[in-house]
Amino acid sequence: MTESTTIRWEQDETGVVTLVLDDPAQSANTMNQAFRDSLTAVADRAEAERDSIRGIVYTSAKKTFFAGGDLKDMIKAGPADARRVFDGGMAIKDALRRIETLGKPVVAAINGAALGGGYEIALASHHRIALDAPGSKIGLPEVTLGLLPGGGGVTRTVRLMGIADALLKVLLQGTQYTPRRALDNGLVHELAATPEEMLAQARAFIDAHPESRQPWDVPGYKIPGGTPSHPKFAANLPAFPANLLKQTGGAPYPAPRNILAAAVEGSQVDFATAQTIESRYFTELVTGQTAKNMTQAFFFDLQAVNAGRSRPQGTEPRKVTKVAVLGAGMMGAGIAYSCAKAGIEVVLKDVSAEAAEKGKAYSTRLLDKALSRGRTTEAARDELLARITPTADPADLAGCDAVIEAVFEDTALKHKVFQEIQDVVAPDALLCSNTSTLPITLLAEGVERPADFVGLHFFSPVDKMPLVEIIRGERTGDEALARAFDLVRQIRKTPIVVNDSRGFFTSRVIGQFINEGVAMVGEGVEPASVEQAAAQAGYPAKVLSLMDELTLTLPRKIRDETRRAIEESGGVWPGHPADEVIDRMVDEFGRPGRSGGGGFYEYGEDGRRTRLWPGLREHFTKPDVSIPFEDMQERMLFAEAVDSVRCLDENVLTSVADANIGSIMGIGFPAWTGGVLQYINGYDGGLPGFVARARELAALYGERFQPPASLVEKAERGETYHD
Ligand code: NAI
Repeated sequence: MTESTTIRWEQDETGVVTLVLDDPAQSANTMNQAFRDSLTAVADRAEAERDSIRGIVYTSAKKTFFAGGDLKDMIKAGPADARRVFDGGMAIKDALRRIETLGKPVVAAINGAALGGGYEIALASHHRIALDAPGSKIGLPEVTLGLLPGGGGVTRTVRLMGIADALLKVLLQGTQYTPRRALDNGLVHELAATPEEMLAQARAFIDAHPESRQPWDVPGYKIPGGTPSHPKFAANLPAFPANLLKQTGGAPYPAPRNILAAAVEGSQVDFATAQTIESRYFTELVTGQTAKNMTQAFFFDLQAVNAGRSRPQGTEPRKVTKVAVLGAGMMGAGIAYSCAKAGIEVVLKDVSAEAAEKGKAYSTRLLDKALSRGRTTEAARDELLARITPTADPADLAGCDAVIEAVFEDTALKHKVFQEIQDVVAPDALLCSNTSTLPITLLAEGVERPADFVGLHFFSPVDKMPLVEIIRGERTGDEALARAFDLVRQIRKTPIVVNDSRGFFTSRVIGQFINEGVAMVGEGVEPASVEQAAAQAGYPAKVLSLMDELTLTLPRKIRDETRRAIEESGGVWPGHPADEVIDRMVDEFGRPGRSGGGGFYEYGEDGRRTRLWPGLREHFTKPDVSIPFEDMQERMLFAEAVDSVRCLDENVLTSVADANIGSIMGIGFPAWTGGVLQYINGYDGGLPGFVARARELAALYGERFQPPASLVEKAERGETYHD
């Protein structure tokens, strides 16, 4: 008999066995090889000692109940490992099933987060009690890593709540519920206030249900809401693939497709067959590329970024207590809300009291909406609003230990507003600018303490966008950079750190995407096809519609300034085929974008897009031009990826994780790729495959696709992009 090393068997005199999940080798429990062996050993022992057992309780000695699958192992599994992955998953399922059907009551005492594999253990219990601990999360988020719950999660949620609810509430979005919401949505049976009470509740369940069974093991059981063979259900089924398409935009996300298939197929067969079907779909995902990309980005890279991989070491973490936000426009208003939400006092300053009030009104609107949806309370709303003081008087900024400037994008104005306030705020206040394009080094020339000056680039809408790009100017000190990092974490956003350059990393690289789309219009490609290509590549915003939102004049202004700077320093401006299209749109046709009345699209009175501007076809489209759809998609993806390599070469980027996370969370690079650099790693044929394809695109569409020397050398050395 194998020994259990990660699960402790603790049996009391009344015959209740507590299975304490406690992997001695890790800070959190995962479904690794040791766990698999331990669970098998526990199931063997339970069967052998069945008569002495009155009930079983799963709980954990760690802070979290159970962390989930062994991602470090999964990310390495290729197609050749399919058998091993399948068998490993089946071994866990088999052990969980044997305990579930022992004929004794099984309770999950969920003492902390139970995500993925953790919730699957809970699902294999007859009764689920969650400790109502702050920050604790419950759910099956596998889909967000390109995976599906392969430990019985699909099979059991379908049987627990029916196919529709299982898909919509748990499987397809990967929603992570608080214990309270998990209870409301039927994921757990009851909550517990303390760990002691939870164990008492578990015992009470065992006492009251000596022969407990799962609902699906009771003869005559039917899946709630029916199965696809039921005529009423069959009528609704076609909506699922359509909804999936809406969720993924037609981009290559295999996980939702496999989840849907496992749920539907598994609902029509017996439990054991359903588990096998689930494992087959699981194995296909684990051994494929998309799950590797998404796990790399959304697990490993995100963890590294948030843990401070790019934060200068050696400075004590600091918290901001009072922040000055200069400019109460669209960005300032959103920044004020995000800071106040994190408990920071905010002084929101604009040129007039009315303008500042208007900025605060944005928070009122957001909170009223949250209140009407039951997402906040009246007291919490009032408290948050009381933290925002709108003003036009610089004297009100006294005592602020951080300043975030978000006035118009104008160097002289930005210099002026810092002059106005730098002697009023705390003498060592952190000085930040939310500029999206102006060099931080240049802006720092306007302040007395350039070492304390840093770029803090938020994305719009600030309350929703999780990323902040921190920009280090030439004179920014380590301490300011660390403080900026801490501030971003304090407001619960994700910070990436880059070095100064025009457009930094994000604005510069998203410009490549937009330029590529616009260039194709200029070459004569049907504009609707360009939009379709962007959507199918997985971009959340179509390329021409995004250009309209940003306005055509803004990138043009940046382009002209960059060109002047390059030419003044004796360089040669390379130009871009998009330039001519943008110039004609603005100068010849008077179409500068949505805010200017129209651009590539036309807009209704309510500001909504109505249709692509018919003039595009008249002035640009050539019926004989056709570019393979794959080339259209890859031109956009490659343009961004190749420029990101240049950002690494130029030291604008210093971390691969920052590049991957920044590209997905800041500028909408498709999530299935795992980010700009992971896209290169995961491209068919790896780095050599990417290099070969980049050369092909360069020959067909322009030198801008030529792979940089550093990339070619990396490919030759057999390396990949990893920190
Ligand atoms: P906005 O035009 O909505 O707001 C600017 C605000 O600054 C206005 O309320 C204006 O009254 C105020 N202002 C002007 N002079 C002032 C002064 N002397 N003192 C105090 N307030 C003053 O502009 P938006 O879009 O909020 O942009 C602000 C900054 O954020 C710009 O630097 C922009 O480049 C940057 N940014 C914008 C993004 C966007 O998506 N709009 C994204 C990221 C950064």
